[in-house]
Amino acid sequence: MMLTRPLKVALLGCGVVGSEVARIMTTHGDDHAARIGAPVELAGVAVRRPSKVRAGIPQELITTDATALVKRGDIDVVIEVIGGIEPARTLITTAFEHGASVVSANKALLAEDGATLYAAAERHGRDLYFEAAVAGAIPLIRPLRESSPGNKVNRVLGIVNGTTNFILDRMDSSGAGYTEALDEATALGYAEADPTADVEGFDAAAKAAILAGIAFHTRVRLDDVHREGLTEVTAADMASARRMGCTVKLLAICERAADGRSVTARVHPAMIPLSHPLASVREAYNAVFVESEAAGQLMFYGPGAGGAPTASAVLGDLVAVCRNKLAGATGPGESAYTQLPVSPMGEVVTRYHISLDVADKPGVLAQVATVFAEHGVSIDTVRQQGRQDSSGEASLVVVTHRAPDAALQGTVEALRSLDTVRGVASIMRVEGE
Ligand code: NDP
Ligand code: HSE
Repeated sequence: MMLTRPLKVALLGCGVVGSEVARIMTTHGDDHAARIGAPVELAGVAVRRPSKVRAGIPQELITTDATALVKRGDIDVVIEVIGGIEPARTLITTAFEHGASVVSANKALLAEDGATLYAAAERHGRDLYFEAAVAGAIPLIRPLRESSPGNKVNRVLGIVNGTTNFILDRMDSSGAGYTEALDEATALGYAEADPTADVEGFDAAAKAAILAGIAFHTRVRLDDVHREGLTEVTAADMASARRMGCTVKLLAICERAADGRSVTARVHPAMIPLSHPLASVREAYNAVFVESEAAGQLMFYGPGAGGAPTASAVLGDLVAVCRNKLAGATGPGESAYTQLPVSPMGEVVTRYHISLDVADKPGVLAQVATVFAEHGVSIDTVRQQGRQDSSGEASLVVVTHRAPDAALQGTVEALRSLDTVRGVASIMRVEGE
């Protein structure tokens, strides 16, 4: 049965994502009404620059006073697609206080202070949905929050930032330069307002914090996530990866420790074999593996960034939240009952690809191998190539077996102090084997 009173929606932000949310709400309004059981009406749109022309949005809906909009009292759902910490956090908590549920795409805020948002939603009996905050259009948060609670998730691994995947893909497949590829990703609406968040790994780290929190039912904040961006990845790293039958991807990896007593979360570039499904994730697509006890390995794949794909996730949440509202129910809140500590990066165990510049003379290989042995890091393969020049140096590439990150860092420190090691050209983790 269709309710006659429309559900009122306030849209905070009308940029790359918000403009697509407004467009789809308008063009698919009848479908949404039928699925929800009540029409949904766009009641106001808060922006910074009111004079900017916004196709399809009546000028009388535009306001620069986002606070007044969320305080109106007749708003059922607030969609927050402004981004950043403030004023987004205050607007969201104010929305809850004034009776609205919230749909947000703001991973930075959820990773920084999700606990405050969850608590405010619970206090006021409202919904907080954020499917769009992780992996764009891909349904991932809902499956983790609502389909997996009966299962024990042990690992979440994937590509969760579209911009960096786009850049690496362009550099690898078409030989594009880093800056050119980043400019293209920005023009396509994939990058954050400050693309440093993408290339330095902050965006992926925020998503890793959100995923780890939900997957392991514990609180994980941005600061708990080990983070390395892709700015240090060189053309030589990519060529070296290719020689090993690998490619380079920026990965987010969240793991439960083998003894189950702690978790880790990290974001860094890594080499993965070309045969691994993540190696064929191109452009701004994302893909995430969820490994759990009963289900085994699930893979989620789809467009990870951009206006329309992200709006798709926002609108899915909008329909769910509206249905909850009509049913007088609320969806899941925070689940952090395990209270597992987050271990430091030093405790992560993985494989490494280390590229060294060494003196090209007898005994150097043995010296280097000894340092690895002294730190308990077992070598899998070594490739040495003399430079065909007058430098007297050789390039030495060592790939290790699995070892704790702390042991590897100790090894590298000791290698740097050897006279025969002229430089450590790169250290990259090897994943997905
Ligand atoms: P944009 O920068 O394109 O849009 C931001 C919007 O917020 C603009 O309309 C801007 O107004 C408005 N705004 C900024 N500050 C205020 C303020 N103080 N009061 C009112 N309005 C304000 O960002 P995106 O649309 O790309 O991203 C929005 C959110 O979605 C972010 O949290 C982002 O991380 C997230 N997200 C983005 C994805 C993407 O692919 N772009 C994918 C997944 C999530 P004005 O138009 O006047 O400048
Ligand atoms: N800047 C983000 C990305 C947007 O490139 O993945 C989607 O969250």
